[in-house]
Amino acid sequence: MSLNGSIRVPSDKSITHRALLFGMMANGTTHVRNPLLGADCRSTIEAIRSLGADVTEQQDELIIKGIESPRSARLDCGNSGTTMRLLIGLLSGYNGSFELVGDESLSRRPMRRVTEPLRNMGAHVTGDMAPLVIEGTTLQSIDYTLPVASAQVKSAVLLAGLRASGTTVVREPMLSRDHTERMLPLFGAKLSIVNEEGLRVIRVEPSTLTGCTVDVPADPSSAAFFWAGAAMVANSSVTTTDVCLNETRIGFLRTLERMGANVVISNERSVGEERVGDVTVTTSELSGTVVEKDFIPSQIDELPLFALVASQANSPSIVKDAAELRVKETDRIDVVVSELRKLGVDIVGTEDGFIVQPSRLHGGDVSTYGDHRLSMMLQVASLVTDEAVHIEGIEASDVSYPRFREDLQRVQRKIE
Ligand code: S3P
Repeated sequence: MSLNGSIRVPSDKSITHRALLFGMMANGTTHVRNPLLGADCRSTIEAIRSLGADVTEQQDELIIKGIESPRSARLDCGNSGTTMRLLIGLLSGYNGSFELVGDESLSRRPMRRVTEPLRNMGAHVTGDMAPLVIEGTTLQSIDYTLPVASAQVKSAVLLAGLRASGTTVVREPMLSRDHTERMLPLFGAKLSIVNEEGLRVIRVEPSTLTGCTVDVPADPSSAAFFWAGAAMVANSSVTTTDVCLNETRIGFLRTLERMGANVVISNERSVGEERVGDVTVTTSELSGTVVEKDFIPSQIDELPLFALVASQANSPSIVKDAAELRVKETDRIDVVVSELRKLGVDIVGTEDGFIVQPSRLHGGDVSTYGDHRLSMMLQVASLVTDEAVHIEGIEASDVSYPRFREDLQRVQRKIE
């Protein structure tokens, strides 16, 4: 069996969430073309509807009529950390009372990283884990240096800054995904970015947003599963089209290249404020590598998949400085180590990452623990085992990639 063909994976989750939320805040109408309609983005759609925005679903497009002020509501963010963290920042400066709840996984995830800077801006937020209650109030700007490389924290403070008095400043020691800073000016926000003393400094002024059109490219974090499959499974070559090539998102592709994978990028172009193109990965001999420091944020969501790919390399690999993995949808260090071991991978967990040795995988019974990226990683793992892999909770992939199983089957070609 090998993987061959061309595929347009579903659209980007981070960009879809942001287009929806900014569309709600904007005057007039926003068109989101090719949105992702996975469970996480559906949580954002339902949240902005509950807050009073009118969202119409047409073929390949969501049309949002913005609102002047959201109405008080109880918002179920489901499994989606992005929905919850961005909404906390967005809602803190509006009049109204908002309760934010989530599923079991989201209710265990840390929200203090967002509530703390917002409280420094004057926000009234009760709780540091879901359920949280926000009593909207008047905010003052802050000058905030991010203690963790987190696009969600950065975005929450910037969104609060849109409604605060004065200029809000966010200083980033390590670059995290920058879709918020790219997209907000398209909606008319007054925002600037400069480098000062080795920090990336983002300034936002109080701004009124105006609706616009956002074209959402394919999600590199979803395309990554096909890149990994093509790199590992003999005689494969897969092209993923229309993929977002924002450098803050494609660290995993750069890591594959460093490991010796055969990667070709073509048809590169700009769509809105994002770089987009087609990526072809062809099988080749892989060697192990170290992923650490400022290489972590641009591939944070792909590190479970990296653990699998590393097991197919001809030398050991190490991931360090990635303690953030412990506060994702699951503890992605513990869960990756336990489930890959069940399939024969020689992997040990550390406080902030893992060490993987070249391994020969076999079949077995594994669980996703309800984590979408685990589900897809384990499905890709089954491509390099002779025996079957039984995956409990495989449907978790619907969170970011409905129909992943069908798409993975579509590119599989049996060799006679
Ligand atoms: C996201 C940011 C990342 C990422 C998550 C989506 C976003 O989280 O892991 O899947 O859309 O802003 P952090 O910002 O907490 O690192």
